[in-house]
Amino acid sequence: MTRSTVADFFNSIASTYNFKYDKQKNSFLAHFFEERLKAAVQNARQPMGIVLDIGAGTGQLYNYLIDKKISFDDFWAVDISSSMLNNSSIPEDRRIVGTVSASALSPLDGTIEQFFMLGVTTYMSIPDIQEALRRIQELADRDAELSITFTNSRSVESRLQRLIASALKMSKRLNRDWSNRYVASQTFDRTTLCESEMRSLLSPHGEIVEVNYQNQTFTPLNRIAPKFSICVERQIQKVFGSNPRMMAAFSSDIHFRLRIAVMGVTPE
Ligand SMILES: C[S@@+](CC[C@H](N)C(=O)[O-])C[C@H]1O[C@@H](n2cnc3c(N)ncnc32)[C@H](O)[C@@H]1O
Repeated sequence: MTRSTVADFFNSIASTYNFKYDKQKNSFLAHFFEERLKAAVQNARQPMGIVLDIGAGTGQLYNYLIDKKISFDDFWAVDISSSMLNNSSIPEDRRIVGTVSASALSPLDGTIEQFFMLGVTTYMSIPDIQEALRRIQELADRDAELSITFTNSRSVESRLQRLIASALKMSKRLNRDWSNRYVASQTFDRTTLCESEMRSLLSPHGEIVEVNYQNQTFTPLNRIAPKFSICVERQIQKVFGSNPRMMAAFSSDIHFRLRIAVMGVTPE
């Protein structure tokens, strides 16, 4: 997966990306993404001060903060896809096309109080994630926090997706056309990690102060019967909610809140 392949992919889906957040058009994804936004902001300090949304996409976090009247001093967005940002209502002078290492962000060094990276690490290589976390430390004000999500490689959902992907590959080899019908338009591998790998990536950069296990629905049930799938998810949360191991096994994504270490001070 190269950055330009990822940018091309998101440029190509930018005009329809907001449908994913529309309950009428996609009830399972809309539910999952709303839960993600809720978890990302629920324990964040408020007012938020200066916010940087990394991989802001079409500005759904910005819309959410405005909608929920969650106040901030300033909101900056960076994304490698210009079309995603162009489909957002983030003020134009607050949109930066590029990565968190873009030189346009240098004037903000040491000032950002709240960082978000929601649904982004899946599309980054491990060295790119490490570089982004290092850069976040330079941009961070004292006591800054990062809300970040990862795709969980050990979840039932990831295992099912791998199974379906292998079946589709095989069907292609057998010259059947199932893949045309079912395969996602992504042509690159995604980065998925187990919880301990996520923790190892984060811990050199700060202290993990919160963990949320997200999306306990499964493919293909969540696409075929989204409402039923959400009911199953609620049951899983009821039964296993207080057991992190079980929740990790059922959750496609994991959200962390990281208190960012001041540059030059490595957390214990
Ligand atoms: C799945 S979308 C998520 C968008 C938004 N955060 C949300 O929750 O709706 C992933 C976004 O990350 C962006 N992205 C991927 N790699 C990136 C990188 N290295 N730096 C900045 N943005 C990146 C993509 O262009 C895309 O807009």
